Amino acid sequence: MKTESVVQNVPFTGRKKSLIEDARKERESSSSSPGPSRCGDNFVFHEKSGKVTLNIIFALSNEKNAGFFKAGKVFETFEARLLHLESRPSRRSKNGMADLEFFMKCEVHSSDIDIFINSLKRVADDVRMISEEKVPWFPRKISDLDKCNHLITKYDPDLDQDHPGFIDAEYRKRRAFIAELAFNYKQDDPLPRVEYTPEEIATWREVYRTLTSIYPTHACQQFLEVLQQLERECGYGEDRIPQLKDVSAFLKERTGFQLRPVAGLLSARDFLASLAFRVFQCTQYIRHASAPMHSPEPDCCHELLGHIPMLANKEFAEFSQEIGLASLGASDEDIERLSTLYWFTVEFGLCKQNGNVKAYGAGLLSSYGELQYALSNEPEYKPFDPAEAAAQSYQDQTYQPVYFVSESFEDAKTKMRQYSATIKRPFSIRYDPFTCSVELLDEPGKIQNALAKMREELRTLHSALERLG
Ligand SMILES: [Fe+2]
Repeated sequence: MKTESVVQNVPFTGRKKSLIEDARKERESSSSSPGPSRCGDNFVFHEKSGKVTLNIIFALSNEKNAGFFKAGKVFETFEARLLHLESRPSRRSKNGMADLEFFMKCEVHSSDIDIFINSLKRVADDVRMISEEKVPWFPRKISDLDKCNHLITKYDPDLDQDHPGFIDAEYRKRRAFIAELAFNYKQDDPLPRVEYTPEEIATWREVYRTLTSIYPTHACQQFLEVLQQLERECGYGEDRIPQLKDVSAFLKERTGFQLRPVAGLLSARDFLASLAFRVFQCTQYIRHASAPMHSPEPDCCHELLGHIPMLANKEFAEFSQEIGLASLGASDEDIERLSTLYWFTVEFGLCKQNGNVKAYGAGLLSSYGELQYALSNEPEYKPFDPAEAAAQSYQDQTYQPVYFVSESFEDAKTKMRQYSATIKRPFSIRYDPFTCSVELLDEPGKIQNALAKMREELRTLHSALERLG
């Protein structure tokens, strides 16, 4: 339920650069870059030095091998370089004749493509081009996250003249030092500790005081409960910036999530991939002292206050991992949709609680102004629907015009799983918590093994139920 308190005079306190814009740029740059091109129907080829590689399937009559020799002549005429050849009985055999179907990978001059294909169609049946399914690289095991370090430098204080720290040489030096800790980090290294300066702690104090004053009325219950635990067990408070090492151990014990230091804003693909392994990439620097309530990029205030409490909640952790798993090997278009989904849930999500609407998104819980605005009667609320949220236009220069309200985290997770199933990938993925790796379920044998493990677990549950009578 919305309250009547409208916040008119709280200035916009800055937006973290969104993953969505980054994902969009990646998609646009990949679609405009040279390399794989598209020509005709589903006809994908690579062009190099005026030559293209084609994948073709065609059928030939087996009668006296005439078609085979004619097709060979076509290849000879166009100087097609054969790279791979397979044959099998054709599924479309005519008149009961055992025709053959051929798969060929060959290289031809790019200027000859159309005439080469037309010539082949004259001597062969069912000539079809097939596209090679290209799956972007993704981490298979947690240590592969060492390769997920593509940074977006747009909001770097060394490069962005609008950054509050741009004219402060000391601040930039400090940022470079903390960034170096993240650059040097490898999976399973001890998390680096940062000795924060009195000035940094003063910035933290102001943020902490301001935000905690509004949490009791605006944050969801799960957030409030964990924040109290963090204050008791993890050194959260006004006078100390918590260390990633302590916070990571706290999370690991509750939901299996762990932290990994990151030097700045990561690419959407890399950031989302880490969630699949229950790893949250976490900045360790703090915003510039001149603007304690404004940061153009994520900093430790945003991470430690906005994200961490929710990652200690079991349902929310599972929901976050679902987005991560859905992103592995997804197309650039799907990465953009998932980033938008992440934006309207993990960053700016609202949920129902005892008849009221409360905030659980980190972008809200780390922004005093937007937190008040989001729970006022100004913005539009929509029930959480992943497909709709993934396509919703977002706002990164002011507050969101629309917020999505989840019934519960359990409900959001179920919907997220249904949405993930609609993402087109040539495989399904299963996370193995014992090895912190993902298994591609792309063969019947692997699915049978997974089923056998599931049966074992069901046996354990069955036996537990029997014991309970
Ligand atoms: Fe964030």
